Amino acid sequence: MAKSPTDKLSLSTRLVAGGRRKEWTGPVVNPPVWRASTHLYEDMATLADGPKRNEDGHFFYGRRGAPTQWALAEALTELEPGAAGTMLYPSGVAALAGTLLTILRPGDVLLITDNAYDPTRVMGLGLLRDFGVEARFFDPLDVAGFEAAICERSRAVLLEAPGSLTMEVQDIPALAALARKHNVISVMDNTWASPLGFQALKHGVDISVMSLSKHVGGHSDLMMGSAAAGGELYAKLRKRAQSLGQVVSPDDAALALRGLRTLEIRLQKQTASALEIAKWLDSRKEVAQVMCPMLPGAPGHDIWKRDFLGGCGLFSFVFMGGDAAARNRFIDALQLFGIGYSWGGYESLAVPIDPASIRSVTPWPFPDLDEGDRFGVRLAIGLEAPADLIADLEQAMAARHAP
Ligand SMILES: Cc1ncc(COP(=O)(O)O)c(C=O)c1O
Repeated sequence: MAKSPTDKLSLSTRLVAGGRRKEWTGPVVNPPVWRASTHLYEDMATLADGPKRNEDGHFFYGRRGAPTQWALAEALTELEPGAAGTMLYPSGVAALAGTLLTILRPGDVLLITDNAYDPTRVMGLGLLRDFGVEARFFDPLDVAGFEAAICERSRAVLLEAPGSLTMEVQDIPALAALARKHNVISVMDNTWASPLGFQALKHGVDISVMSLSKHVGGHSDLMMGSAAAGGELYAKLRKRAQSLGQVVSPDDAALALRGLRTLEIRLQKQTASALEIAKWLDSRKEVAQVMCPMLPGAPGHDIWKRDFLGGCGLFSFVFMGGDAAARNRFIDALQLFGIGYSWGGYESLAVPIDPASIRSVTPWPFPDLDEGDRFGVRLAIGLEAPADLIADLEQAMAARHAP
């Protein structure tokens, strides 16, 4: 779809203006929810012409969307300089699967960062293996090791920064450049930062994937994913998504679009609160390490500062010693944090992390931690007052000790 006139505007302004074409919104601010399977044709001539015009922005049939989905896709494309289009999927995992099933063929090798989101790892070792693809894992921080791991059969690499749970920040520009040098397609899971915090395509990535269930939705009430890419790859993503029958509901697209408009201010507030809380945790004797890229001195901070435009509310920390029962007592004692998966909503969440079983080439605990410092917690900081969240964490620290 042709770019709209927001091209030269800042990201903040694009966030407001993107996808709001007059022909989609009519006289109201937001594109209405076009709930439709059947699209009606004027006459036989337009019906006969329909299949030839398989382009975004043309009515054809519900599976190809309607203005509500087109508006969301276009708004996301406008946040990702270098992208020709954005494909929408019913979840972040569906976006990852749809992307990888587009670019991989039997016999190919897919290189996956060792700190990838666990279902991505499972996809590599299950679904993709069943289709004849071999998944190989590499140390997220070893750039030279990544190049050495590339072989003739390597078709694609899956990057993620910061990585899930342990939050290492990969050198994406270096890894993406090496991938390009060796004709390997780079795919990045950019859910943590979103294009507001990291401009993936500008940094050399070929396909930028995001779970919209997190920050973009922002209210813990929808599931969706996206993949943005330049012209040729976008056309391939679209073709494969159509053959897989992928479509998102217009109601969810409208919710995602509503969330998108306030993404920047929510991310700013959550980043500031997360940093305040990360600093507090860093000062506590019970804590061995805080894994928060925005925290000066924390692992990955230097690369984050160099490459990222912003952060978010998601980070982890590890207790000094203790055991799983003590860590679980801590989580159980939290009053303001819900216990639950996902993140990026307006409310704070906590989950235990035990990464050892989802690593194959990097050790856990990390070498700079003692063997006993292995019981971690991932926090997703919401929009509550940070002082209240800190008070909650403080009282839960006391509850760690056995009764
Ligand atoms: C980094 C990351 N990528 C992708 C996903 C998958 O997104 P969804 O839950 O929308 O399928 C998640 C979900 O937790 C995630 O944390």
